Amino acid sequence: MKTEEEIRPPATLVIFGASGDLTRRLLAPAIAHLSRDGAISPEFAIVGIARTSYSDADFRERLDEGAREFTPRDQGRPGELPAVVRYVCGDFGDPALYASLRGVLEEIESKRGGQHNRIFYLATPPEADPEIVRFLGEQGLSRAENGWTRIVVEKPFGHDLDSARMLNESLRTVFEERQIYRIDHYLAKETVQNIFVLRFANGIFEPLWNQRYVDHVQIAVAETIGVGHRAGYYEEAGVLRDMFQNHLLQLLCLTAMEPPVKFEADAVRAEKVKVLQSIRPFPADAADDWAVRGQYGPGVVDGKPVPGYREEENVAPDSRTATYAAVKFVVDNWRWSGVPFYVRSGKRMAKRISEIAIEFKSVPHHYFRHESGELPPNVLRLRIQPEEAVSLKFEAKIPGTVADVESVYMDFPYSSLGAASRGGYERLLVDVTHGDQTLFIRGDEAEEAWRVLDPVLKAWEKESPPAFPNYAAGTLGPEAADRFLEKDGRRWRTLGK
Ligand SMILES: NC(=O)c1ccc[n+]([C@@H]2O[C@H](COP(=O)([O-])OP(=O)(O)OC[C@H]3O[C@@H](n4cnc5c(N)ncnc54)[C@H](OP(=O)(O)O)[C@@H]3O)[C@@H](O)[C@H]2O)c1
Repeated sequence: MKTEEEIRPPATLVIFGASGDLTRRLLAPAIAHLSRDGAISPEFAIVGIARTSYSDADFRERLDEGAREFTPRDQGRPGELPAVVRYVCGDFGDPALYASLRGVLEEIESKRGGQHNRIFYLATPPEADPEIVRFLGEQGLSRAENGWTRIVVEKPFGHDLDSARMLNESLRTVFEERQIYRIDHYLAKETVQNIFVLRFANGIFEPLWNQRYVDHVQIAVAETIGVGHRAGYYEEAGVLRDMFQNHLLQLLCLTAMEPPVKFEADAVRAEKVKVLQSIRPFPADAADDWAVRGQYGPGVVDGKPVPGYREEENVAPDSRTATYAAVKFVVDNWRWSGVPFYVRSGKRMAKRISEIAIEFKSVPHHYFRHESGELPPNVLRLRIQPEEAVSLKFEAKIPGTVADVESVYMDFPYSSLGAASRGGYERLLVDVTHGDQTLFIRGDEAEEAWRVLDPVLKAWEKESPPAFPNYAAGTLGPEAADRFLEKDGRRWRTLGK
C-alpha cells in the first residue's frame, strides 16, 4: 500500500514568471482543479516570482482570477487554491532574489516538518533560463537535503540544435537528468497516451503496424487561430519551431516507435530517440523537395473576415515567417522502410483538427465497385483535437446490390468512457510531484528533434520564401502542398473525415 506521502507528496511549486500569461492561463486553472480533486497534498504550497509588484494576497487573487477565467465549461468549477501562496518580487539576474526565495522556502518547509520537496517551474522567456539555473546552482538550491528538487522547463527548448545543446549543458551542470522535466503538453493529452494503449494493449493492430501493410501515415495539426498576442515569439519561431520540433515529432515518434522493454520513462524515451535517429537527414541543398512552407493572407475563418499574418499586430509587413509547413519524413528502419510520414500544420486553417491517420495498403485485387470509382484504402484515425476519438474506416456492401461498396466508420469517441479528460497541465504537474518523467522530453531527445529539423530551418533562413502570403486564411494551406503529395501519387486526407 502506498503511503499518503507517496500518493500526494507535499511540495512547493516555485513559479519563475508568475505574473505571465502561462501562469495565469494554464498553471492557475490546473492547480485549482488538482486542489479541488484532492490530487495534491493539502500541504502543497506555491511561490510566485516576477518583477511586477504583488503582495501575497494580490498574487493569490491573480491566480484565482486566472483559474476562474480559463477553466473550460465542461470541467466544473475550479477549487480553492492551496492554503500557502507566497510571492517574491525581483529580477532573475539579482542574487538577492534567490536569498529571499530561500528564506520563504525555509519558512514554508519548517511548518511541514522540514520536508524540502521543491519544483522550480520556468514559466519564463527562454533566454532567462540559463541565468536562473546558474543562480539556483550557485545558491545551493538545486539539491535538497530532506526530499527532492525538480526543475520544469517550458517549450520552446532552444531555438536550434546549438542552442538546445547549450541549454542542456547549462541544466546539466546544476541538475541531474532525472531532476529535469522538459514539457511537451501534447504528451499529456488522453488520445496521445492512448496511442501506447491502442498499439501495445491490443493484439490486432501491431501485426499490421509496419511497411508490409501501411502505405503511409499522415499527421496534421490544423489551427483556426492566428498568431494572437504571441507575435513577438512567433515571428522568431515560425511553424517548424513552434509545432514540428515538439508536438508533431512527438506524435510521429509515438506512432513509429518499437515496443519499449517496460512502460517506464527511460525505456519509452529510448525508443522515441531511436525513431528520431532513424529519420533520414534532409539534404540542405534540396530542402524544398522535402518540405513546403506557407504564410496566410487575409481570409474568412468561421464566417468572420480575418487579417493576413503580415497585417497582425507586431508582425513585420514583409515578414518571411512560415505559418504553415508540410514535411515528408522518411524513417529508415526495418519497420518503416518505404513508408513516408507526411506531416502538416498551419495557422488560420479551415478547421481546428489534430489527428494521425494510418493509411493501409489497398487490397491486391479489386472485385467491387465503389461510389468514388476506386476502392479506397482502410484508414485508422487517431483524433486528438477538438474531440478525442479513434475511428476505423472500412468498406461495406451497399444493401440490395451485389457488388457495390461504400466506406463506413467504426468510431470510438473518448467521451464515451465518462469523465471529461483532465487538462494536460494537471497531469503533467501530478507527474512531476510523483517523479514520473515518462511524458517529458529527455535531453538527447530534444537535441535529436532539432538535428532532424535544422537543415530545413537553415535552408529556409537562407533562401527567400515563395511569394508570401500563399494561402488565404480559412483554407487548407498553399496549393504547393497539394502538388507536393501528388508528386508521390498521394493526396492529403480530408481533415476530420
Ligand atoms: N503562454 C502560453 O500559452 C505558452 C504556451 C506554451 C509555452 N509557453 C512558454 O512559457 C514561457 C512563459 O510564457 P508566457 O507566455 O507566460 O510569457 P510572458 O507572459 O511574457 O511572461 C514572462 C514572465 O517572466 C517574467 N520575467 C521576465 N523577465 C524577468 C526578469 N528579468 N526577472 C523577473 N521576472 C521576469 C515576467 O514578469 P514581469 O514582467 O512581472 O517581470 C512574466 O511573469 C515561455 O518560455 C513560453 O514560450 C507559453
